[in-house]
Amino acid sequence: MCGIVGYIGTKEAYPILISGLRRLEYRGYDSAGVAILKDGEITTHKCKGKVSSLEAMIAAQGGNPEGQVGIGHTRWATHGPPNDVNAHPHASDDGQMVMIHNGIIENYGSLRQELSKRGHVFKSDTDTEVLIHLIDDIRKNADVTIFEAVRIALNEVIGAYAIVVMDRNTPDQLIAAKKGSPLVVGIGKDKDYFIASDATPIVEHTKNVVYLDDEEIAIIDARDGFKLMNIKNQEKTPYVQELELKLEALEKGGFEHFMLKEIYEQPRSILDSMRGRLRADKGRVELGGIRDYIQRFVHAKRIIILGCGTSWHAGLVGEYLFEDLARIPVEVEYASEFRYRNPVIFEDDVVIAISQSGETADTLAAIELAKSKGATIIGICNVIGSSIPRATHAGSYTHAGPEIGVASTKAFTAQVTVLTLMALYVAREKGSITESRFHRLLIELDAIPGKVEKVLEKNDQIKFIADHYKSVPNALYLGRGYNFPVALEGALKLKEISYIHAEGYPAAEMKHGPIALIDEEMPVFFVAPRGGAYEKIVSNIQEVKARKGKIIAIVTEGEEQVRSMADHVIEIPDTDECLMPLLTVIPLQLLSYHVAVMRGCNVDQPRNLAKSVTVE
Ligand code: G6P
Repeated sequence: MCGIVGYIGTKEAYPILISGLRRLEYRGYDSAGVAILKDGEITTHKCKGKVSSLEAMIAAQGGNPEGQVGIGHTRWATHGPPNDVNAHPHASDDGQMVMIHNGIIENYGSLRQELSKRGHVFKSDTDTEVLIHLIDDIRKNADVTIFEAVRIALNEVIGAYAIVVMDRNTPDQLIAAKKGSPLVVGIGKDKDYFIASDATPIVEHTKNVVYLDDEEIAIIDARDGFKLMNIKNQEKTPYVQELELKLEALEKGGFEHFMLKEIYEQPRSILDSMRGRLRADKGRVELGGIRDYIQRFVHAKRIIILGCGTSWHAGLVGEYLFEDLARIPVEVEYASEFRYRNPVIFEDDVVIAISQSGETADTLAAIELAKSKGATIIGICNVIGSSIPRATHAGSYTHAGPEIGVASTKAFTAQVTVLTLMALYVAREKGSITESRFHRLLIELDAIPGKVEKVLEKNDQIKFIADHYKSVPNALYLGRGYNFPVALEGALKLKEISYIHAEGYPAAEMKHGPIALIDEEMPVFFVAPRGGAYEKIVSNIQEVKARKGKIIAIVTEGEEQVRSMADHVIEIPDTDECLMPLLTVIPLQLLSYHVAVMRGCNVDQPRNLAKSVTVE
């Protein structure tokens, strides 16, 4: 949430900052700003709207600001509405210092009151402005260096932050710090330094990065280099890592939108998530990342799965998988509810935390809670080196590659793939699955990427269906068993990017409420492949038909019964019931995509949403 970028070095800062902001825009896009320092003067430009509005404004005002030090920000509003004044960077009273910030300063109210009494005047509604005034106050009254002022101020704040401070009195330095919100420093050649809230703006400049830990402060000096301290004033040794991220992965690669590219990447991202882990030919599944913890799974009396949004939906599929295959009771929890509920957690619980970004604040806090009660924490994350994998005992990455579209697609199928591998691995170790079913599932799983390709071939038909329903105000998504979470995910995708109200429901529950909504205007999307609950769902379809609802059904190839009742059917290849979500979700992703495009919505950056939710 909110994108941060900073540069100090030998090149012009502005082009680096703007291209960095464009890459980070998926994190938040309600306002943007930059500040550049040259010859002891700071020039700040900021405005409501997208990075393109900022660029246009700067171009209209006379072109690129010059200077080799600068900071930039793209905002997702927390305190104060999106407008020019609340946009970052924020400045101290005398304008000598500017700062960008991601996170929330929780005690900003009391700090603001105190600073107001001491004569500070605030222009914006933001918590960020309070922090830069606090730093300024300390700097002047205690007569300390900028680093020391930042350090003392950070000892006074409660909350989460990733900040970069630029001071015209120390033009060769940027000070960066973090707690709870991610921050990474890229170390280029020739004393070029890049700072960002994730590695995406850095990868085109350097592969060498240092991820800051909580309460660390980086002093980045154009002459003296990079020094790492913490808020207790202890020097730390930076751990320089090499980024594996490839630049092409951050480009649209000929697709109109990132979301469409990411939907089409799924045969590959599912394969990458299985690579080296699934050996159908050898009859083996192994996840190296959790090997040392496999006995904890085997002896667990319970698994708790934590996540938010789409990751929570993947967790629901995980519940079906672990209960079905490994015979371990599972609870799937919204991380945001779990953390505030005084939950009962046992030392022999295994907690699986699922997160694409690895940065979701609620998931991170729920992990810390479960860890403090002695549970074993396993992560399933996509972003390597992010905060959640670092907070867990062990885990397995999804290897879906960067997901830029705000609506999650390939991350979901990669999460379900890893959950499937995990459940199979545990089931095998535990002896809860028969040899024949285990081997059959390995072969089926191995064939999934090819079957996803086949589903993607239905794109034109799905687009045609989208055209039929693009103007509806409401939609219902129904599924049973393994496909109930898919119904939820299908509804979420439609809401997120096309702003059509949609509900996902277990099909049999329709009778207990949603059936009242059905009339000839209501499209009902049934996820109805062959499998255990097939006959039951056929009855549910009949119930909708009897009330003149429009029926769009996802069915297994060759199926006739539903076809005779439905207005539209989308056929998918057959597979084992427990792998079906990997196929049935694809048409729903494509459908939402096409509906959103036809409605003229911003598919990759839907209103009010952000890709990585680093605030509560
Ligand atoms: C945001 C995103 C969703 C995502 C959710 C959880 O709401 O817009 O797409 O599912 O956060 O994010 P995570 O990174 O933890 O999977």
